[in-house]
Amino acid sequence: MFQSDEPRDSIEGEVFYPMKQVTKNATVQEYERLYQESLRDPQTFWGERAGELDWFRKWDQVLDESNPPFYKWFVGGKTNIVYNALDRHLKTFRKNKLALIWEGEPGDTRTYSYFSLNREVCKFSNVLRSMGVKKGDIVTIYLPRIPEQVIAMLACAKIGAPHSVVYGGFSVEALAERIEDAQSRVLITADGGWLRGKTVELKNIADEALARQPTIESCIVVKRTGQDIYMEPGRDYWYHDLMSLPISTNSCQTEAMDAEDPLFVLYTSGTTGRPKGVVHTHGGYMVYTYTTFKYVFDIKDEDRWWCAADPGWITGHSYIVYAPLLNGATSFLYEGAPNHPYPNRWWRMIENYGVTILYTAPTAIRGLMRFGDAWANRHDLSSLRLLGSVGEPINPEAWKWYFNVIGRGNCPIMDTWWQTETGGFMISPLPITPLKPGSATRPFFGIDVDVINEEGAPVAAGEEGYLVVNKPWPGMLRTVYRDPDRYVQQYWTKFPGRYQTGDSARKDKDGYMWIIGRMDDVIKVSGYRLGTAEVESALVSHQAVAEAAAIGVPHELKGNAIHAYVILRNNVTGSDRLAEELRNHVAHEIGPIARPETVTFVDTLPKTRSGKIMRRLLRARALGQPEGDVSTLED
Ligand code: WT7
Repeated sequence: MFQSDEPRDSIEGEVFYPMKQVTKNATVQEYERLYQESLRDPQTFWGERAGELDWFRKWDQVLDESNPPFYKWFVGGKTNIVYNALDRHLKTFRKNKLALIWEGEPGDTRTYSYFSLNREVCKFSNVLRSMGVKKGDIVTIYLPRIPEQVIAMLACAKIGAPHSVVYGGFSVEALAERIEDAQSRVLITADGGWLRGKTVELKNIADEALARQPTIESCIVVKRTGQDIYMEPGRDYWYHDLMSLPISTNSCQTEAMDAEDPLFVLYTSGTTGRPKGVVHTHGGYMVYTYTTFKYVFDIKDEDRWWCAADPGWITGHSYIVYAPLLNGATSFLYEGAPNHPYPNRWWRMIENYGVTILYTAPTAIRGLMRFGDAWANRHDLSSLRLLGSVGEPINPEAWKWYFNVIGRGNCPIMDTWWQTETGGFMISPLPITPLKPGSATRPFFGIDVDVINEEGAPVAAGEEGYLVVNKPWPGMLRTVYRDPDRYVQQYWTKFPGRYQTGDSARKDKDGYMWIIGRMDDVIKVSGYRLGTAEVESALVSHQAVAEAAAIGVPHELKGNAIHAYVILRNNVTGSDRLAEELRNHVAHEIGPIARPETVTFVDTLPKTRSGKIMRRLLRARALGQPEGDVSTLED
């Protein structure tokens, strides 16, 4: 078990103290004083951090608060995140250091040094430019977890074209509505990808989405699986053909961007309606991801970092692509399923590649834990020095398994709380932080969080309340793409002047934060974020359905599972077969992750007098819990 080398002040509950072997080389050696200092003067703190990176022109002002909540960071500064992620390393020993080690599910591998990754990015930037992509055009990327996904993102950023990455596990409607909102003219996809020994039909899904959203003029297709696909003349081009054209030279000028220019749009589920396009920038996002990664995962040149997320989610954007490259680190990327062909796949790769830090989600840990300890025990995992968790609260049982069986009792777990909107870690331990299983511990430097009640007053220690952030930070979203009102409404209106996270939390006597979960209609399924509204609109798009409601119900492995309640149209009768058809319909429209666990046919749905579905009541009934205040119920 985790042991302390030195006596410490006692804190409440079950605590794991970091060992000297972990803390002695940690970049940050003290928390409390530095944290207080960073809160007193965040601008100095962030200005110093920004100074560690390269700028074409230095900023005039660290933070412009003149028009809240439209905050601006590093105003007047000019940079490009790709200049700091690639170009600047080419002048150092890192030129020949590995940037990316990749393994495909079938077992094929590829590696890229900073030099060769930069070369591929330059070539692809030239391809994009030759197709008429200009600064400010949003390019949609829909790829499996292959190196081209990283290359495509960086190539867009390099030429100032914001990317909109759509997770490869999403399906037709999810892709179509994202293309439509971004008004993309170029789509980058693949014939398919590998998952559990089968191919995912990415190009077929894309073709169906393009039939719904014809804004796409050019579609670039990476050959991954070699499966048969349709290529539309004049619209579809093979990536490898374009990359071998004479215009695809090895060098390409990195565009100088304003610090506040958008780097990407990433769609995420909200309380109501369609997914929101969260906008992040070249300047603030760069400084924030660079700093949080450096301090929390204490990254060193000899590390081999593995973030087992998908680049298509914020975790991958920030901590597979940008933060590791900004820090000159070596990242490992794996295409497929954790248990393919056997449940030791991950442990074998950690041993094979000498991975030193593993960052994953509780749902993955629980899924692998289910297969027992023997699969992990047959591998030498002694290269590991730190572990990480993200996406949902980690239950103490999974924490302990991760700590003892995977970390062999030697690796502290960095439980990082953050969101698509926050850009990077907000509440997280550092390697020196005493840990409490299930708590994300303390806020990061410069991050001022509170747990408050309905009136905005802080609640007492140990009490549950709304988790809010009191001050802006460089990695914060800047707006919702094409919908600034929604940005204000969603995040800054309920508690004026404060960022509303949508989560509930408790702060204990020692100032440790315990995240409880979403307070809104966002459901976290296996760590993936979905909105009840999206699932409902997918259900209603089926001809048999008149009305639908979706709720999240606790699930042992997934964290939450989706339960759907459906009112059928007049002439339709419910059956097991129809229920199955509806579950598949949702999977076809949004993606397999959104497939409801159950579909129940009902005659009515509980609604408020203003016609809103009372999902809280459905949830209470599903769980057999008290129904609470039902005074607003229609009848
Ligand atoms: C929501 C954000 C940003 C990383 C991936 C998820 C939940 C995230 C934790 C954690 C408890 C967590 C919250 C949050 N969440 N990390 N360490 N402990 N809950 O990003 O898809 O935008 O989801 O994930 O509920 O609001 P996302």
